[in-house]
Amino acid sequence: MTDLADRARSLLSNASRVLVLTGAGISAESGVPTFRGPGGLWREFRPEDLATPEAFARDPRLVWEWYGWRREKVSDCQPNAGHLALARWMLARSGVTLVTQNVDSLHEAAARSTGVADPSPAMPVRLHGSMARERCTRCDHAREGLEPVNAADLATLPHCPSCGALLRPDVVWFGESIPERALSQATEAARTAEACLVIGTAGAVYPAAGFVLAVHRRGRPVIVVDPNATAFDSVATVRLVGQAGEVLPALLA
Ligand code: OAD
Repeated sequence: MTDLADRARSLLSNASRVLVLTGAGISAESGVPTFRGPGGLWREFRPEDLATPEAFARDPRLVWEWYGWRREKVSDCQPNAGHLALARWMLARSGVTLVTQNVDSLHEAAARSTGVADPSPAMPVRLHGSMARERCTRCDHAREGLEPVNAADLATLPHCPSCGALLRPDVVWFGESIPERALSQATEAARTAEACLVIGTAGAVYPAAGFVLAVHRRGRPVIVVDPNATAFDSVATVRLVGQAGEVLPALLA
């Protein structure tokens, strides 16, 4: 290991509580596209056309077509060495809260793939919901939704089995609130963390980015794992410049 990685490892092992924040970059090596940067989804698509409540109200077919495409893409992807190293590390020690912006369920798949009887300590707090769930636009109904979406027209889109209204992806769109429970779990982790490990997020979206800054403001170390520059570089105690799938297995072994 490099000196920097040694330093990061000791900062993490000296912290009894650690907040881990992940973004799209941790899933890049699994084949899931990121949002910003080369090949990023927001290079090709406009968020206001696809990821806002207004976009869904205007053209639910288009929004479902896009989520159906992303869901299909993700269903072919497996957790990578970064997800797996993180899951094993969380199961081997206590005091880690994993907060993810990802909606791809790969942290969950990694936790389950460890084969331990209770993988729940390695399950993430999902700030932005899950693409593998759908919920009713009218009533409280929600369900796991992994089937392919037929977005041929409005009638073929997923509809609520209990009230008949349109279902929507159970994700957080721009302009929507973070689910209350996830927000309070992440806020509490940021309030008490003695170190923060940030993996594969550009740091452009709040409140997620704010949790890292909150740990930094309390004078606690921030470790950033990312091959590129991020919004956290100026507050990073240690920057490990590289791919999550290479850096994390060495860092968290
Ligand atoms: P971004 O696409 O903004 O940032 C991805 C980060 O991952 C960048 O800093 C890349 O350099 C880095 N990266 C790329 N490959 C990597 C690798 N192999 N290992 C580690 N890092 C790598 O994605 P997020 O920060 O997750 O929100 O985006 C945050 C939110 O913006 C998303 O949750 C989504 C999006 O709009 C909603 O849809 C509400």
